[in-house]
Amino acid sequence: VIFNSSLEASKIVAQEIANLIQLKQELNEPCVLGLATGSSPIKVYEELVRLHKEEGLSFANVVTFNLDEYYPMDKSNIQSYFYFMHEHLFNHVDIKPENINIPDGTVSANELRQFCVDYEMKIKSYGGLDFQLLGIGRTGHIGFNEPGSHLNSGTRSITLDHITRVDAASAFLGIDNVPRKAITMGIGTIKNAKRIVLLAWGNNKAEILQKAIEGEITSNIPATYLQEHNNTTFVLDSEASLEL
Ligand code: GLP
Repeated sequence: VIFNSSLEASKIVAQEIANLIQLKQELNEPCVLGLATGSSPIKVYEELVRLHKEEGLSFANVVTFNLDEYYPMDKSNIQSYFYFMHEHLFNHVDIKPENINIPDGTVSANELRQFCVDYEMKIKSYGGLDFQLLGIGRTGHIGFNEPGSHLNSGTRSITLDHITRVDAASAFLGIDNVPRKAITMGIGTIKNAKRIVLLAWGNNKAEILQKAIEGEITSNIPATYLQEHNNTTFVLDSEASLEL
């Protein structure tokens, strides 16, 4: 779906999430959201905060699982996805702290494998993700599933692609400060979501979006795996759609 502006698109995506939260409330069920970081979802989070403050949308039944986190990474670090999510969403809504799940960039190397297994199991214990919000990296990554990621991959640690580290360099004040690794939900984890919405804005995403949407399905461009998911929408602004 192509919109004239990312703001207009973000409001519609936020409304879909709000409707799902309210539907689950009526059913007395948790609403299990997979959440993304990066610049793309910021306006969706702003709109969700507005719906909470001005229209009484409650997050009391919401359980969240974030896609990824740099590794290693302290929670207090302003570049952490932990910090990002609290800054943009969690600090401004009534979500219960125990319902927030973010891959833990502070676990020791020895505990990392078990942490990933437990994260995956916890998502499954809720019956999977009701809704997954995604961005896309210039390598075609979703979460931090870099080229080469397997279709059935689960939550795991991954080595970041050079392009991904270049793109993160300004936030870290230089590429040397960008972590070389991350923890990410897998392609399998994401594909099990009942509904997926991928957001992409601006012409620097146009080329990878053309490949992701119209190219053949390949592990070289992990976002192409979404072509096989039966309830995924790519939400773009007009600039991001220029190569389609
Ligand atoms: C990072 C995140 C991805 C995100 C991507 C794009 O690599 N791990 O989840 O989709 O950045 O970021 P942006 O939305 O800022 O373009």
